[in-house]
Amino acid sequence: MSDRLEELRRRHANAETGGGEARRMRQHEEGKLSARERIDLLLDEGTFEEMDKLVRHRCRDFGMEDQVVDGDGFVTGYGLIQGRPAYIFAQDFTVFGGSLSEANAKKIVKIMDLALKTGAPLIGLNDSGGARIQEGVLSLAGYADIFLRNTLSSGVVPQISAIMGPCAGGAVYSPALTDFIFMVDRTSYMFVTGPDVIKTVTHEDVTKEALGGATTHNATSGVAHFLAHDDTECLRMVRELLSYLPQNNRDDPPRRRCDDPPEREDPALDSIVPEASNLPYDIKDVIRRVVDESQFFEVQEHWARNIVVGFARMDGRSVGLVANQPAYLAGCLDIDSATKGARFVRFCDAFNIPILTFEDVPGFLPGTAQEFGGIIRHGAKLLYAYAEATVPKITVITRKAYGGAYCVMGSKHLRTDVNFAWPTAEIAVMGPEGAVNIVYRRELAAAHDQEALRRAKTEEFRERFANPFVAAEHGFVDDVIEPHQTRPRVIRALRMLETKVDTMPKKKHGSIPL
Ligand code: HXC
Repeated sequence: MSDRLEELRRRHANAETGGGEARRMRQHEEGKLSARERIDLLLDEGTFEEMDKLVRHRCRDFGMEDQVVDGDGFVTGYGLIQGRPAYIFAQDFTVFGGSLSEANAKKIVKIMDLALKTGAPLIGLNDSGGARIQEGVLSLAGYADIFLRNTLSSGVVPQISAIMGPCAGGAVYSPALTDFIFMVDRTSYMFVTGPDVIKTVTHEDVTKEALGGATTHNATSGVAHFLAHDDTECLRMVRELLSYLPQNNRDDPPRRRCDDPPEREDPALDSIVPEASNLPYDIKDVIRRVVDESQFFEVQEHWARNIVVGFARMDGRSVGLVANQPAYLAGCLDIDSATKGARFVRFCDAFNIPILTFEDVPGFLPGTAQEFGGIIRHGAKLLYAYAEATVPKITVITRKAYGGAYCVMGSKHLRTDVNFAWPTAEIAVMGPEGAVNIVYRRELAAAHDQEALRRAKTEEFRERFANPFVAAEHGFVDDVIEPHQTRPRVIRALRMLETKVDTMPKKKHGSIPL
């Protein structure tokens, strides 16, 4: 017995030491925490239950039989986050560069299967040199096993990836299949082919940071959803994100006690939209004034800034916010913003999170870059996502709701449950200036004083169409509300919708225009 105990202790210690002191120090010198330190920060204190700590790789080639670390460099298991269960894996870069082997892939697969069966989120802390080179196709098979489970779990349990070191080659596709990607500034990077291969093939010079660093993927590619300044902040943000999410697709999002009165009105909202309809304002000011305690957890803050998406609470209940941003590209919809909005709407719909939309959109961004890039296909994603969503949907039109964008952004016609408009709303096929140039083209060409005619006709159009009342007369808008009433009115609508049930026609799945 004592021998066995001795062996067990030795092997546990071996697993905890990982690749040894020197490699651990190097990890710290690079500003990174160890896999176990990360798990400790992520989970509620003392709740981690490790699994497969004694697993070893089975590779006998390339001298690997002499290099065995218990646990094989991945720490996996489960624990609690804010008192709720979650499954975790953390790659330990000190053991073969955190590379994926046949054995440690099985460890991940095991907790992924448990996450799916028990209905709890899966969180992966990535810090890895990719496929374990010495294991060849066995390692590739491990990746494919994980990709399959990422796909099967999609829409069933929330899946979160934190990139906290290298993530290269095909290994990027597991995070890419998950719902949210966090990246740590300066210490993490993701790319399919690295700088050396790029140099050989295209002769481009690019650093790892510029190619696939946290800023690149948060601001340029849109691959990542959150940028953290260090490991500690990253793990705190993962916990915060989870506080808005249900455990699985059969669960409701957690509800918090709320000290912000549901009937609170905010008079500042009455003057937030500028008099001149071409002047910008920050839609995030509107969001913060409406939601509980001004707390807005923004998703993809740095990418496609013409649309704002993120989580907040209304009367203690999670909502997903989608809002056009007049302060960026005048709030036009374009390829990136449509993709960003669509992905977010679908996530909320999959996880029973009501969608609150603030709309101020002059239309789709004009230009050859957008048309050649496929704005038709990409814009359709957002339309599709709103139309298929069956969660409670509430839209508030703050100003412009023009053209196709009116239809797309949670219009009544796409099964939105409650549509409000502020008195400043302008709901029309297009802006008055554009409309006059088309409808009165001949008259304008023949006019003695073109400018005077244009001004008069523009005003006539504005009077007739650029207001919320025509839409309200048709019931496309349920009520025109004074802006300061927005919070209580939305909360009452959300309460009314708590028991909402809506369905889709029977089908295997739709064919969203990808
Ligand atoms: C086995 C690996 C490894 C790997 C790193 N190591 N990557 N061992 N398989 N893939 C080992 C190193 O030998 C080294 O061991 C230790 O990890 C640390 O690596 P360093 O190179 O010293 O670290 P660093 O300088 O920080 O560079 C990190 C790195 C580099 C950029 C990730 O290690 C690297 O380029 N690795 C190979 C990346 C790669 O090409 N992977 C395959 C990608 S394709 P010692 O003993 O010296 O500490 C792929 C396919 C997935 O992943 C397919 C899915 C479909």
